[in-house]
Parts: sequence; C-alpha cells; structure tokens
Amino acid sequence: MTQNRTGSLDDECPDEAPDMMQELRHDGSVLALAVSDRYIFAGTSKGEIVIWSLGTYQHVKTIQAHKRSVLNLLLSDDGKYLFSSACEPILGVWCPKTFIRLYEIYSTYDVGDVFSIAWSPQHQTLYLGTQTQDIQWISLNDPTRQVPRDSPKHPDIRQHRFFDSRAVGGTSTPRRMEEHYALIPKAETVLEIDSSAIQRYAHYGWVFCMLIAKGPTVLADPDEEILISGGGDGTIKLWRLTDDEPEYGEGDGVVGNIEEMMVLGHDDSESVMSLAIDGSFLYAGKLRGIIELWDLDTKQKLRVIKAHDGNVNTLNMSFGLLWSGGTGGSIAKHSTVHYGRGKNGLLQNVSQKYQCLNRWKAHEGKILSSAVTVHATEQLFITGANDNTVRVWHVNGMPTHNEEGREVQEDMMITSLREFVSYKTISSRPEFTEDCRKGATFLASLFKRLGAQVDVLSTGSLHNPIVLARFSGKLEPANERKRILFYGHYDVVPAEIKADKWLSDPFKMEGRNGYLYGRGVSDNKGPIMAALYAVSDLLQAKQLDSDIIFVIEGEEESGSRGFQETIRKNKDLIGHVDYVLLANSYWLDDDVPCLTYGLRGVLHATICIDSKRPDLHSGVDGSNMLSEPLTDLTLLLSKLKDNKNHVKIPGFYDGILPMTDEEEQRYDEIASILLRRNPSSGPLDVLKRSLMARWREPNLTIHRYNVSGPDGSLISSHATANVSIRLVPGQEVEQVIESMTQFLYDEFAKFDSENTLTVRIDNKAEPWLGVPGNYIFRTLEEAIVQAWGLNGEAADEDDSSRVALPANATSDETKPKTRKPLYIREGGSIPPIRFLEKEFNAPAAHLPCGQASDAAHLDNERLRMLNLVKSREIFRTVFRKL
Ligand code: BES
Ligand code: MN
Repeated sequence: MTQNRTGSLDDECPDEAPDMMQELRHDGSVLALAVSDRYIFAGTSKGEIVIWSLGTYQHVKTIQAHKRSVLNLLLSDDGKYLFSSACEPILGVWCPKTFIRLYEIYSTYDVGDVFSIAWSPQHQTLYLGTQTQDIQWISLNDPTRQVPRDSPKHPDIRQHRFFDSRAVGGTSTPRRMEEHYALIPKAETVLEIDSSAIQRYAHYGWVFCMLIAKGPTVLADPDEEILISGGGDGTIKLWRLTDDEPEYGEGDGVVGNIEEMMVLGHDDSESVMSLAIDGSFLYAGKLRGIIELWDLDTKQKLRVIKAHDGNVNTLNMSFGLLWSGGTGGSIAKHSTVHYGRGKNGLLQNVSQKYQCLNRWKAHEGKILSSAVTVHATEQLFITGANDNTVRVWHVNGMPTHNEEGREVQEDMMITSLREFVSYKTISSRPEFTEDCRKGATFLASLFKRLGAQVDVLSTGSLHNPIVLARFSGKLEPANERKRILFYGHYDVVPAEIKADKWLSDPFKMEGRNGYLYGRGVSDNKGPIMAALYAVSDLLQAKQLDSDIIFVIEGEEESGSRGFQETIRKNKDLIGHVDYVLLANSYWLDDDVPCLTYGLRGVLHATICIDSKRPDLHSGVDGSNMLSEPLTDLTLLLSKLKDNKNHVKIPGFYDGILPMTDEEEQRYDEIASILLRRNPSSGPLDVLKRSLMARWREPNLTIHRYNVSGPDGSLISSHATANVSIRLVPGQEVEQVIESMTQFLYDEFAKFDSENTLTVRIDNKAEPWLGVPGNYIFRTLEEAIVQAWGLNGEAADEDDSSRVALPANATSDETKPKTRKPLYIREGGSIPPIRFLEKEFNAPAAHLPCGQASDAAHLDNERLRMLNLVKSREIFRTVFRKL
C-alpha cells in the first residue's frame, strides 16, 4: 500500500482545496494560533496577539504581547486562560474574553525561547518546554510564587542593568524596540517560577512540543493527566505529574514535580516538531514530512507515513481525522485507525490503514500553526503561515453530532452564497442568458431544499424568469397569517476580471479580512441569502408564524423587463400581501446602520437621429448643405440641460414636493452625524445640499453616444444617445416622458433638418417614498437596534456613538450606546418597489445590508461578513414579529 511507503508522497491522494472562508492578513508571520468559541487568536513574529471574531472575521484587537515572536498560544479548556509564550523568558496569561493580561510569568533560570507550553487543569499548572532543554512549571494557584513587579530577578530589570552597563560602550537597545516594550500591557500579578520547578535536560535537544493527555496509556490511571513532550533529540517522553516536592525543593508552596514514565524513539533520530493524541495512539510530526504513529499501551511504533515534502510543523486530531501542516505549505488530511466509512457508507472501524484523503496547498509560505473549531455547525480548520496570513478553511471531517447523536445540519449560508455568486447572471448581455437560467434554477432548488413551494415564472422568451418561493407560516387559521413579500434580484451587472481591477475572479467568491468579494455579493445575492436563511432558521426553530413570499427577479439591472406583466398575471398564485420588504441598498458610511425610506425613480431613453443617406466621407461629402445626424443629436441634447445641470424641459420641476421643516431637520441631523464621524466630508451646508440633491431632487444624465460605421473621417448615418432621468416624488413618470418627448420634437423641428428623430423609452420606474414611522419600519428599527447593540442605557445626545461596532467582536464594555438607525433616502432606483406597493396595496420598507464602501456595480464588489450575519439576525426578528 502506498501509505506505508515513507520515501515518497502518496500520489493517489486527491488534491482538492476545500472552500477558503477567509484570508486574514497581517504584517508578520503567524507562528501561533488558538481559537475560542468567539475569537481567533494569532501570535505573530512581531510579538503581537491579533484577535479576530470567529464567524464574521472582524478584526477586534491587536495586543503587543511580547518583545519578540510569539511561539505558542494555548487556551485552557474551560476558556478562562489564554497562555502565550515567545522568544523571550516572559510568558503571558490573558483573559480570552476581555483580553486583559492576568499574569506575567518568568523563570529565574535562563530559558531562551519557550518553544512549547501545556496546561494541566487537574494541577492548575502551566508547563513550559524550553530552548535550554528543560521543562519548567508553575501553578497559577500558588500564592507563594507572586513577586513584586520590580523584583530584581525579573528579566526586564535584569536586562535593563545589562543594557545600562553596555550603554557606556555605546551600544544599547535600539529605540524602536523600547517603544515596542512600552506597549506591552503589565499584568496585575507577576509570578516567578520556583527555582526547583524544573526538569533539567528533559530532552537532549530543544523541547519543541508538549501536550497534556488524560489516561492515554494503561500505565496511568485513566483519570490522570500526564504530560507528553517531543524534543529536538527525536524522542517522545511521557511524564507523570505529581504534587511531590522536587529533590532540591526549597519553596513553601506546592511546587509539584514531573517523573519520566516512558521514552519513545531513540535520541539520535530526527526532531519531533509536533504532537497529537487520539486515545492511546500518539502521532508525532517530524522532519521531511514524516508522521509516526505510536501505541502508548504497547510502546510500539505502528506506522510511519510520509505526509508532506517539508517538515510536519502542525498536527491536529479533529473531526475524527488527522490534519497535518508542512513547511512546504500543504495541509494533509488522513483517516485514522479508529474510524472510516465502510463500503456501505456507515461509520465503522474499517481500516487499520492511514489513507490520505486530501492534500492541498494552503499557503505559499511555511505553515507554522493551526487550530480547529466548529462554528455554527461548520467545521473550520485554521492555518497560519509565514506568508503573513491566517486562512480559514471550511472542511469536511467526520460528521458532527448533536447531543442526541443526530448528525448536525451544516450552516450553508456562505456555501450557498458562494455557489449563487458563481452563476454569471448578467441580465444586460444576451450571451449570458443560459447562465441566468442556471442561476434561477439553482435558486429555485435552494428554496425548495429549505422548505418552500417554488414556481419559476416566465417573463417571456426574451427575459429572465422570476423565482417565486413561498414559505408557509404555522399560524392557524391561515387567513390570520401575515404575508410578507420579500423582493430581490438574482441578476448582476457585468464584471470582467481582465479589463477591470478585480483582485480575484468576480465569480469565485473570496473571503478576505472580514469581507466577501465577488460580483453580486452585495447587490443583491448576499442580502437574499440573509433573508432566506433567516426564514430557514425560524422554520427550524418552529417560530415562523407568517407566510414569507420571495419574489426574486432576473432583470432588475435591466430595468425589470417583464416584471409588472408577470406579477399581474400570477397575482392569484402570490395571493394577498401585507408588507413588502427589500434589501438592496447601502449605509451612508461604513459604520452607522441605516434604514432606507426613499428611492428615486428613473427613466431611460434612447434618442436617435437617422439620415436617409448612408455613412458618408466628411471630406468628400461634408458641406453646409448636409444635415449631420451626430451634429443634430449634439445640438438637441444641449437643449436638455444647461451647464449647471438644470433641466430645461418645460414644467420639469413643477410637481416636486416642497421641503417641510421636519424633512429639513432630518437632513440637518444626518449631515451633522456624518460630519462628526468624518470631518473631511464637510462643510456642513455643502454636505447637506449634496444629500438633498441626490435624494430629493431630479437629475438628467447623458450616458453614451453611439454612431454607425467604422472609425475614421465619417459622417455617420445614425447617431444615438442614451439618456436617463432620475425622478423624485411629485414627478409623474408618464408626465415627464411626455413633456421630454414633446420638448425634443419641438426643439428638433426648429433645426429644420432633413434627418429624423426618434425617442424610445427603454424602461421606467416610479420614485418611492416609504413611511418611516409605520409598523414595518418600527419593527425593522427595533430589530436593528437589537442586532447591532445600539441600545445602551447611557444613550446621550452624542450621536457619534451611533456606530455599529461589532457587538460580538468587542469586549463587552465597549458597546456603542445610541438608540436608532439613520433614516435615509437613496439616489438609486429599484423599479418594482412602488409598483408592488400599489399592486398589493401594502407598505414597503427597505433594509440596507451593505456599507457605503461595498462598491456595487464597481470593481471588487464586497459585503462585510458581519453585515451579512447581522442582516440575517435582523430578518429573523422582523419575519418573526411582523
Ligand atoms: N441596488 C441598486 C439600486 C440602488 C442604487 C440603491 C444605489 C441604492 C443606491 C439596483 O440594483 C440598481 O442598480 N438599480 C438601477 C436600476 C435601473 C437599471 C433601472 C439603478 O438605480 O440604476
Ligand atoms: Mn444594481
């Protein structure tokens, strides 16, 4: 069998990288990783501990924890302590929730770098494996170990003396380093390791790795914790932990001791770099990609696997499988002795072999650290490397089971979004019609899988279908159920990786630094997934009372072609609607949660001037006897507005609603909040006028010209221009179309041209103005306040605190304290909203999920993970309460 050969890699092993959920970048190598139920902790070559929140991948904090590289991070099982060791003689003990430094620990013996640490809950003792070949230890419960901060034995004090004396000769500590040191938090309590709490020459080499295991061998009591260490001398040693006084003990406290129980391997073999344990089986990662398997009961080496090309720096026994990370940047996943899937697919003891199930290139650099966890039922494998990144992989181990032993359903929101994004549903390009159809089919089957009754409604052969999905609430009788219509669109605008400046393929969603990148993640695929999974959450929790109807179209970016007719035709299928909800806009900045209550309307027109003649040569034919189409068009368009963007269509501004005092106040408030957050966005009155101009005033844009014929000295026979007008409440679309068309024809007539004018309306949408104080907005507001943690009691008049700091991503004291989201309008348009309101006689409300920096329609469109997660939470509340 290939897996038994040690010379070369098993080349039958599949090479499939699992989905990378996130890449978290830092500016130093990541030598250590630990993961709690809330955070990922990374130890870096700059002595920092960098903290991100798990699941949303928000950067929470960076602590300068050590003077030099952090080598180890270890969480105690009870979640009380985070231990850190580094290339220095001082260790840190931190609270993994508040990030406060609890203890500072040092040894009076020279330890060099502290390569490994292990924590025994039974003895409340921390063990350290050192560069000086010792194992030392200290009990956190031993009050006699507490020393004053200025103890003369403290390495900082000793070091200072050393440097002071050197300074005379001219060399001293570089300034920069000193500044670094000053940032390191001081612990309340300083502990000094007892001079007798040391096992000298624990290995005849550096003590690279250690772990604590409970009863891994028949030689020990099954409830007894023992220490296992792996050294640069190639041996693995098992140590019994005792409370006995060491031989040369002199302290008053309970110093404890360690006694060698077992030695595995010869001390002339290669270094043991990493360890993992599984019952009585011990795995040792060694140089040149070797993993050894030892049986601790028989002391036999059972197997040697060649897992990597480079050294095996990390080992994790998790999800029923063995995971290893190598210097070459690869991760390998092996099945283990105990379990495997039999031919019948059942979990059983099928194999005495180690099968390589997958090996993938996880980093460009060396993998130096790894951690595993389950978050929201997803199995996550996290790697850190010297390419300055932490990468979070969504892996498949053995299935996870809940307490009743049932297999747990995975949380699929991100996986679903990734697949959704992979469909190039570009409605404006006929060559993507097939992709649009596939995208619609994917969406329909996803809705079905999550429990909806699904119909795919044709909008005619030329346009993309509408996916209609209905989830039934449980309230009886059915006619008392509220019915909420969620509107969204699965089509996207084009994106080309080559022409544009995308950092990754726009149709392969990628997670980086807390954001998801890809075309459509924000507009509108991400928000649709948040709403869908919110419904699915409520169904699973048996909390869905109302009916939720998803209407997801595929033509929004093209003016919602065929939408109105199709909805009218299928009105019976949709039934009665109480509320319309959508999520297709953005916050005003990146921090303050918003609710959108207004959108502008829009009309797109194509203005064409055609000549009866063919394309002509401007030198041969051009003369003042000839009416040129493009000249006509240019002159005609110049009549539409002046150089101050003032539209000259008669009566254009007539119907616009005057500003009320209340409305003006709202603009004042929003502008001052934005200004306080970002002083460079001022001055105040300019900011305010800019908001008003975009939200409550119309505008006319000339988008592009098109001419017939090839480039060169041509008088084109045909010239067209695309024009759009954004409309605001009080302006009737039909009325504007009519006056614009009339105006163009009248002006053109004055030219006395031999060409002909045609005005074509491509699409139109009415403006929408919601009612901020109505029930649906109030419900949304409460849900936002709850989800974003804006509900501090200390709410004061300082609106700068109305900031959506990730509530779960900061220590609890730093929650923001204001009460409300910002009520905003938008300059953009969503054609169906006003139509749906009128058609179903139901009020609409709009929850913006994304941030201002989402870059919808632009390169590198993105959506913050945190916003996605919070939006799901908000929808859950709203669908439950409405
Ligand atoms: N999500 C946007 C609408 C939007 C844009 C809301 C900016 C808030 C701010 C939507 O997908 C869109 O792009 N709409 C088009 C509609 C048009 C093609 C009829 C628009 O506004 O140009
Ligand atoms: Mn859009």
